[in-house]
Amino acid sequence: MIELRGREEIETTVRAGVLEHGTAELLRETGVGERMDRIGAVHHGVELRFGGRGHRIDLTGLTGRSIVVYGQQEVVKDLNAARLDAGGQILFETAATGLRDLETDEPKVRFRGGAKLDPEAGEIRFRDDAEEEELVCDYVVGADGFFGPSRSFVPEGVRKEHVRAYPFGWFGILVKGPPATEELIYCLHERGFALVSTRSPTIQRLYFQCDPNDSVENWPDEKIWEEMHARLDTDEWTLTEGEIFQKSIVQMRSFVCEPMRHGRLFLAGDAAHIVPPTGAKGMNLAVADVRVLARALAEAYASGATDALDSYSETCLRRVWKASRFSWWMTSMLHRFHDEDDFRYRMQLAELDYVSSSRAAATSLAENYVGLPMESAASADEPAPQDALR
Ligand code: PHB
Repeated sequence: MIELRGREEIETTVRAGVLEHGTAELLRETGVGERMDRIGAVHHGVELRFGGRGHRIDLTGLTGRSIVVYGQQEVVKDLNAARLDAGGQILFETAATGLRDLETDEPKVRFRGGAKLDPEAGEIRFRDDAEEEELVCDYVVGADGFFGPSRSFVPEGVRKEHVRAYPFGWFGILVKGPPATEELIYCLHERGFALVSTRSPTIQRLYFQCDPNDSVENWPDEKIWEEMHARLDTDEWTLTEGEIFQKSIVQMRSFVCEPMRHGRLFLAGDAAHIVPPTGAKGMNLAVADVRVLARALAEAYASGATDALDSYSETCLRRVWKASRFSWWMTSMLHRFHDEDDFRYRMQLAELDYVSSSRAAATSLAENYVGLPMESAASADEPAPQDALR
């Protein structure tokens, strides 16, 4: 494992926080679910708030499943610990500098330690004494995020990239204090989207839709609370304030790279696809990719059969496109498109009303939110057996 950042940094950077049912199950099956079950919070519903009123989507009642709110950085801690305990190696602060021979059975990764990302310049700097080395591999997994280098090693003539940018960003804050609600609130207001989420009994995560080019310096705490109250408060409920200790702006985009495999390079997670955060799918998709890949690799090592590896891209992309659709749909329904006319806004309100009042529509949201069934590696043109209507 070659990791550009330091252990401390990846174990403390707050990112996503919602685990689908299947993601939580997989962590348990893999033996890394103990802390999650101890300190994660199981949620059985989410709220859609619009027109000044809340409407609960009963995730468990509609699907028999639930989600776990457990920070990505906690998952990273558990995975790092398991890897190191098993005698595995993680090269922190090390950059992959190049890949070669991907179409042979000895693909190679060049890497160099002593690396530090300079976020201002968007460049990696190296300590002078750190020399470049080369690792000879059986397989290479490019799980290096949207900005990582591995995707660029799928040749341009082979690679097709699909992109959708959204005309807004999310302003995210971390707040000290107890949860403001028991369940997440996704809110559409005339002024824009807002989300009330949580990280732990003492840390809360809130977001509101902002201009994608806005800057955190334009938002003193008072102005943030004013905006959050304007969007979220109802006659019965007022958002609890607390000490804001972090502010950041999240860009919103959809992105899919096809195929997710070239020779013995396998792309996984954000290296291959990005979703806007509205459906909470990003980390879950990465986990689903890795599940497919781990099984395919195990099969290849055990029996030499490469069918599952050969269909890796197809298997993963079925799920990726469905999650992209869901994230795009949630994003389109819940944000204000300020440049468009009222007709669009009215359609969104009608859709929210429909989703909150029809069991069929609510079930569609709920089954996507808790996570569609994990796909088997079987043929991609036939529905996997567990896709059949339950
Ligand atoms: C979060 O807690 O960071 C979060 C929760 C739900 C989302 C997106 C982000 O849809």
